[in-house]
Amino acid sequence: MTQSFTPRPLVIAPSILASDFSKLGEEVRAVDAAGADWIHLDVMDGHFVPNISYGPDVIKALRPHTTKIFDAHLMITPCDPYLEAFAKAGCDHITVHAEAGPHLHRSLQAIRALGKKAGVSLNPSTPLSVLEYVLDLVDLVLIMSVNPGFGGQAFIPSAIGKIQDLRAMTAGRPIDVEVDGGVGRDNAGALAAAGANAFVAGSAVFKGGTTEAYRSNIAAIRDAAASARGEAI
Ligand code: DX5
Ligand code: ZN
Repeated sequence: MTQSFTPRPLVIAPSILASDFSKLGEEVRAVDAAGADWIHLDVMDGHFVPNISYGPDVIKALRPHTTKIFDAHLMITPCDPYLEAFAKAGCDHITVHAEAGPHLHRSLQAIRALGKKAGVSLNPSTPLSVLEYVLDLVDLVLIMSVNPGFGGQAFIPSAIGKIQDLRAMTAGRPIDVEVDGGVGRDNAGALAAAGANAFVAGSAVFKGGTTEAYRSNIAAIRDAAASARGEAI
């Protein structure tokens, strides 16, 4: 496939939602040592999504455990009152859901004003058209390939066509295309060919429970994606 854009760097972002919460700092250090590029942080409020995870104080406590990028995925509404707390906690990317409120443009402006990279996440049922008038404020688009709220769900295949369309929409712009939910070695190649460059994986990374297992799990996803991108492994 000929790519009509400069490829964004390939990124593997383990979601610590699938890690052992009784030793979160150790788990972050383990995936860092195992080759993670970003650490994906799933924040859930029991309101926007039917599950509760952790908030800025936990993220702040994890910050000294790695220098890798903290990629926060806020599944909360409202989000605007909490953006500063997540910025102060050490998040480098702050991604909000387009469905989380009526003022996506304002949220993205606020994240940029805090000096952070601004992301937008779209649920599986949300069309790409919601991005049309905010693209100048976006550093990252996170395509959900499951309905957000839980790890370990089955991948929804329509995400592949959505990513292809998104890549065409963002061509020529410095925007990362990230995919989240049910991602693993079996679909990373198809997702990379469609145009995703950042791969969130929870259960596919943390299965095995040791740094060695994490290293091999991350490498398998990276190799599948790199090979689909025509990059040397
Ligand atoms: C789901 C979260 C995901 C989740 C992915 O709401 O946004 O990041 O942790 O988990 P897996 O990779 O197990 O589908
Ligand atoms: Zn996520």
